[in-house]
Amino acid sequence: LNRGLTEKFLTGKKILISAGPTKESVDPVRYFTNHSSGKMGFALAAEASRLGAEVILVSGPVTLKTPDGVTRIDVETANQMYEEVVSRYNDQDVVIKAAAVADYRPISVYEEKMKKKQDGLTIEMERTKDILEELGRRKNSQYLVGFAAETINHLEYGRKKLEAKNLDAIVVNNIKTEGAGFGSDTNIVTFISRQGAEKEIHLAEKTEIARQLYQMIWTEIRDEQQ
Ligand code: CTP
Ligand code: CA
Repeated sequence: LNRGLTEKFLTGKKILISAGPTKESVDPVRYFTNHSSGKMGFALAAEASRLGAEVILVSGPVTLKTPDGVTRIDVETANQMYEEVVSRYNDQDVVIKAAAVADYRPISVYEEKMKKKQDGLTIEMERTKDILEELGRRKNSQYLVGFAAETINHLEYGRKKLEAKNLDAIVVNNIKTEGAGFGSDTNIVTFISRQGAEKEIHLAEKTEIARQLYQMIWTEIRDEQQ
């Protein structure tokens, strides 16, 4: 696998990574979000930069430090992430969507804080745009990578998403596995690619996972060019 990979094998490549959760407000004090620390996406950005790439990191609200050499763009909502990612897409060689994007947002956002009432509360939600699916539709030469965190059947769901969103690869994990949960510094993932790879990366620090993912991605890009 490592044959032909120099120390800075991503030199000259442009890589865009999305990370973290998105935040969908319902009033000035409340919002819907997903579990996501942003650690996997930030590790991917840091590692790509170390490997010589020109890196843009589009991040939802997280409490992490921007990795050295990385251009960071902060967003809150799924729609803002859509704009920032899609508008930069054409320039990129590799795009990795590690963000936990909200699938729904409240249909109306109240201008003033909602006051509590005697009864329960029902909030009507609508779908957000699927950023990755749109990137799959618009793909020309980019190598496009999705992420999927699942609680059951992760390989099967991963393969389906790879197809449905026209990806080159998807990185899946079962969040119920010890060491692969949210907020953890470690992860266990399986890399599934259009070219037919299906490789598990065993329990490791997210930075190490990132390094191995780039080796797999780069090997595939290189093979495609030959
Ligand atoms: N994704 C996205 N935009 C969305 C929802 C998801 O770009 N509105 C991306 C995520 O960043 C991730 C991939 O799609 O790279 C898979 O996300 P996931 O939530 O696992 O899949 P969904 O297609 O949303 O399906 P479901 O939540 O029902 O499993
Ligand atoms: Ca989803």
